[in-house]
Amino acid sequence: MVWSERQVAMLAEMGIHLRLPTAESVQQVAPAEVVAGTVPADIAAPTGPATPVARLAAPVAVPVAAPIAWVPDAARSTTLIDPASPVAAMGWDTLADAVAGCRACELCVSRRNTVFGAGNRQARWMLIGEAPGENEDRTGQPFVGEAGQLLDNMLRAAGLTRADGGGEDQVYIANVLKCRPPRNRNPEPHEVERCEPYLQRQVELVRPRLIVALGRFAVQSILRSAEPIGRLRGKVHQYHGVPVVVTYHPGYLLRNPVDKSRVWEDLCLAREVMEGLASR
Ligand code: URA
Repeated sequence: MVWSERQVAMLAEMGIHLRLPTAESVQQVAPAEVVAGTVPADIAAPTGPATPVARLAAPVAVPVAAPIAWVPDAARSTTLIDPASPVAAMGWDTLADAVAGCRACELCVSRRNTVFGAGNRQARWMLIGEAPGENEDRTGQPFVGEAGQLLDNMLRAAGLTRADGGGEDQVYIANVLKCRPPRNRNPEPHEVERCEPYLQRQVELVRPRLIVALGRFAVQSILRSAEPIGRLRGKVHQYHGVPVVVTYHPGYLLRNPVDKSRVWEDLCLAREVMEGLASR
């Protein structure tokens, strides 16, 4: 992958420092890749002397575990919710109102605002996070705190945006829970279960071409998997026919910046999958 100066600068904002190819490195390793100094050892070249060139990371080629069973547009994401659920027939406005007035679990007591979702409702990309934090609870918008700023930087570096302008590189962002758990504690299983129809309906309405699951709770909710993220990332999973790429939550990254390069790999995988889908 060859990076533009702008991408290099944006990645630097994320704490990932790239070096553009020098004439010397080009002879040995064709395009510039993430520099090993900022890349964990397990994605750096495994053998060879520790020269700058030999220590360039391996190209971001992440194995796709299973072929993606592509489901045609008309069949995608149409039957997620129990048809008997009142949510199943809701359009965007009714769904947003239902979330705003939801009293299905005790989180409604402590919330200031529900956080429905943001971005382009026809986006090809859908990102699923965990639950609102303090800033999101205050503003009613997803990912507006420190983790949100990091997420925005990552999206920008990957050529994506949550700004709703109608283009192809926009994302829609929603959370598993629409209300903030007190003191940002982990979501409880019954809260996830009560909130699930809202997320399912959002997926049905957006009809994304690709979902990026951010963190453990998004993964548990949509993939029904208790496997650690480290075991699930690097593969393409499926949610009712929609390809899913799994990565670490931006909040986790704030505490573990060393894993930023892994998230970058995951975004590159997601891009590859999207580009593959676009060419079909
Ligand atoms: N973390 C999330 O998972 N979602 C938000 O909206 C904010 C922080």
